[in-house]
Amino acid sequence: MVTDSNPSAASALSLQPAEAVDALRDQLNRWAHQYYVLDEPTVPDAEYDRVFRELQALEEANPDLITPDSPTQRVIGGVADGLAPVRHAVPMLSIHTETDTEATGAQAFDARVRRELGLAESDPAIEYVAEPKFDGLAMSLRYEGGRLVQAATRGDGEVGEDVTHNIRRIRQIPLILPAGVPPLLEVRGEVYMRRADFDALNERQREQGGKTFVNPRNAAAGAVRQLDSDISARRPLSFFAYGLGATTPVNEGGQAFITHYEMLQTLKEWGFPVAAQVQIAKGAAELVAFHQQVGASRDQLPYDIDGVVYKVNRLDLQRDLGFKTREPRWAVAHKYPAQEMATRVEGIDIQVGRTGKLTPVARLAPVFVGGVTVTNATLHNLFEIRKKQVRVGDTVIVRRAGDVIPEVVGVMPGQRPAYVPNFRMPRQCPVCGSDVVREPGEANHRCTGGLFCAAQRKEAILHFAARRAMDIEGLGDKLVDQLVEANVIRTLPDLYRLGLTSLVALERMAEKSAQNVLVALEKSKQTTLPRFLFGLGIRHVGESTAKDLAKHFGTLDAMIGATAETAATVEQLLEVPDVGPIVAQSFYTFFQQPHNREVIEQLRACGLTWPEGAPAEKGAQVLAGKTIVLTGTLPTLSRDAAKDMLEAAGAKVSGSVSKKTSYVVAGEEAGSKLAKAEELGVPVLDEAGMLALLAGGPAA
Ligand code: IVH
Repeated sequence: MVTDSNPSAASALSLQPAEAVDALRDQLNRWAHQYYVLDEPTVPDAEYDRVFRELQALEEANPDLITPDSPTQRVIGGVADGLAPVRHAVPMLSIHTETDTEATGAQAFDARVRRELGLAESDPAIEYVAEPKFDGLAMSLRYEGGRLVQAATRGDGEVGEDVTHNIRRIRQIPLILPAGVPPLLEVRGEVYMRRADFDALNERQREQGGKTFVNPRNAAAGAVRQLDSDISARRPLSFFAYGLGATTPVNEGGQAFITHYEMLQTLKEWGFPVAAQVQIAKGAAELVAFHQQVGASRDQLPYDIDGVVYKVNRLDLQRDLGFKTREPRWAVAHKYPAQEMATRVEGIDIQVGRTGKLTPVARLAPVFVGGVTVTNATLHNLFEIRKKQVRVGDTVIVRRAGDVIPEVVGVMPGQRPAYVPNFRMPRQCPVCGSDVVREPGEANHRCTGGLFCAAQRKEAILHFAARRAMDIEGLGDKLVDQLVEANVIRTLPDLYRLGLTSLVALERMAEKSAQNVLVALEKSKQTTLPRFLFGLGIRHVGESTAKDLAKHFGTLDAMIGATAETAATVEQLLEVPDVGPIVAQSFYTFFQQPHNREVIEQLRACGLTWPEGAPAEKGAQVLAGKTIVLTGTLPTLSRDAAKDMLEAAGAKVSGSVSKKTSYVVAGEEAGSKLAKAEELGVPVLDEAGMLALLAGGPAA
């Protein structure tokens, strides 16, 4: 970090108040320029604040030293009675737009310029300056004696509006210029809003229930024309300089520039922000390259642009070329395909996602936006529809930037047909007919038919097969995709109806792997209630909640019983430790869906079993107080499943054998642990023995 000379030293040096005030302002302005314009802070915020307060104190003690361009005055609001008209000393022109989206746009401009300058083909290439075309609003800043005295909008080009009170609050715009600038200087450029500032502004507006803005340009335009500058200052604006208006003539002490580029560099030195992309381009080919290069990085820029601008660099050539009606012959705007267009909403459809989320999608009259024809755009959720007030028949603004999904950003006011009903979310899932719910505090509606809904098939199967659920080895992403797409599997029970033939028929599925999948499926039939419950993928029922619920109810039938009757309520579920209203509601609604219950019944019919315990309150667990060690490979159960079953029955499953071990359960290829058990005389069981033990019978 570069540190400037310490300005409080200035006051310590017992300077006259006027000198001290100047020194402090100078320092603060330099720091602010480094921070806001160059994006290179050189002092910590606290240091800036300290010096700022020092200046404030000095000004308070010497009120006659306060000037409107002091950094302390930037934060002080001003309210205008109305926006006064300002006649521009030099008109603010517009530029001709080259609509050609191809390289020909730049070539056509270059050819025109060369023809008008009377150049032959053998003459050297013309030098241009290529700049981004900022998507904000044009502003003319008038400095007299190096001080900002007026800021005016473009208006009709001849007469604009005085918005000085708001423009003074833009930190990137210097209030005071370095010594040596021409006595009169009008700097022209674009006021705009950065995308991040725009998003944050809309976020705040939303939180406060205020109106949101359609795009950064509209937000900037609104902010600039506020009467109360405090309101304007809450909508942070930025600025780029790109030209000059009226200036002191050279023979009266004005600055003589040779080129446009040199002028921009000087504006930068004087403290104005100039876009980093601005560059010199020789001939049409380099203009084309610029158009492409900026176009490719357009979505990564922190602000919106709608094209690029080409300008003849030499100012004498600009003068020679002159103007045609109200447009200069030496400049042209070359646009990109618009990222926002207006079109009509012909309907609102509902899409159901992999996780059951319902997304309303606007069906649109086809519109060319962001370089492609768009026929639908996401409306996200009901909340967004209400906020944006979108209805069928409305004319809306659609945005498509880069690869981002097209989005409805807002409704064009005043274009709604006479009667249009408000949009309503369906009460039943359009894919499967299950109930649709929205949880308190959630923006999204969801389908509750998780086990049955075709839209949620893949997700449901993958979750069911996961290691911590039914642990079906080999049933991963790719296989599930294949099985669902081939329509071999519609709901979970179809998994257990899979045969070798249908598996082998799949692409890239060898008989050996197919066999393995079938074995894994068979193995998964022996499970535990918490695993099964977790595997159902009930929203908010994770592994540990599944365990709590299983423990509380003991059996699946008890659970279904508790949710099947309308009399049995969510309150009953709230008695389960760690189950709150959201989990309870979700669990309840899930089992209320006849389709979900049907799927569960079918799964049981396929042979899925688990030890059913008694509800926790009644009776002690069969293996309470026992310590058990598992070793080797069991014939049907996975190690995880066996461990779960034992733990569910109250046993402690340990990794090493000691005198305190109650049983060792040994499978194939059991090694040292089995030997140790025999040595210590600990009873050894096989899988069947373990299952008998769990069932409460004799162990061997
Ligand atoms: S030069 C005489 N340069 O585009 C030429 N204009 O129709 C004056 N704009 O509303 C304009 N970026 O606000 C120029 N780099 C740029 C620009 C730019 C955006 C806007 C300008 C005006 C419109 C021109």
